[in-house]
Amino acid sequence: MFYEPRQGHGLPHNPFNAIVTPRPIGWISTRGADGSENLAPYSFFNAVAYVPPQVMFASTSTKPDREGTKDSVANIRETGVFCVNIVEFAARDAMNMSSGPWPREVDEFDRAGIAREECRMIAASRVADAPAALECRMTQIVTLEGVANFLVLGEVVGVHLREDCLVDGVFDITRFRPLARCGYRDYAVVEEVFSLKRPGE
Ligand SMILES: Cc1cc2nc3c(=O)[nH]c(=O)nc-3n(C[C@H](O)[C@H](O)[C@H](O)COP(=O)(O)O)c2cc1C
Repeated sequence: MFYEPRQGHGLPHNPFNAIVTPRPIGWISTRGADGSENLAPYSFFNAVAYVPPQVMFASTSTKPDREGTKDSVANIRETGVFCVNIVEFAARDAMNMSSGPWPREVDEFDRAGIAREECRMIAASRVADAPAALECRMTQIVTLEGVANFLVLGEVVGVHLREDCLVDGVFDITRFRPLARCGYRDYAVVEEVFSLKRPGE
């Protein structure tokens, strides 16, 4: 089939987020100017540059208690910083719980029973047991087409790696089994890796 998104897809569910898959999940922790803590998963997330290391995530739609956006973007507008926590398979239920449309004052670390640690370079908490966490300073918030669509870009200024995931100097993802977002209500877990040499290597 072929469809033009502006004309509709005619399917029972929008297939768009099942097409670009699997997507990594950035579990974004932020703190508001009032000190409120926030944690939420974003699968419109990726790394975008090496030097300096930079990441992005995109926020879509709004919450009734936030003007034109959701808690994560609102907090980042206030403070200019955020932390990206990497989600392992073992954290799937806590991650899912933290995605609820909770009022702004709800602390998702508490709500989902997630242990926290203070970040070192930025004023935010991080997920204490995450396999990796990236402390970021926001560089740009780009307003995208449509309503309440924002792209947040940040420079990684601090990197935490869980000790058990470092094997002979390599960050070994088989140690924690990364969780990835597919379409609909589906997820994938990375359990097998293989290597390829690039031409000329
Ligand atoms: C696995 C997963 C991935 C998600 N990815 C996104 C995303 O990329 N962008 C987005 O706006 N919401 C995404 N959501 C929904 C948000 O997590 C949800 O709206 C959350 O309440 C936002 O929290 P906040 O208001 O604290 O920022 C995702 C939810 C789940 C469970």
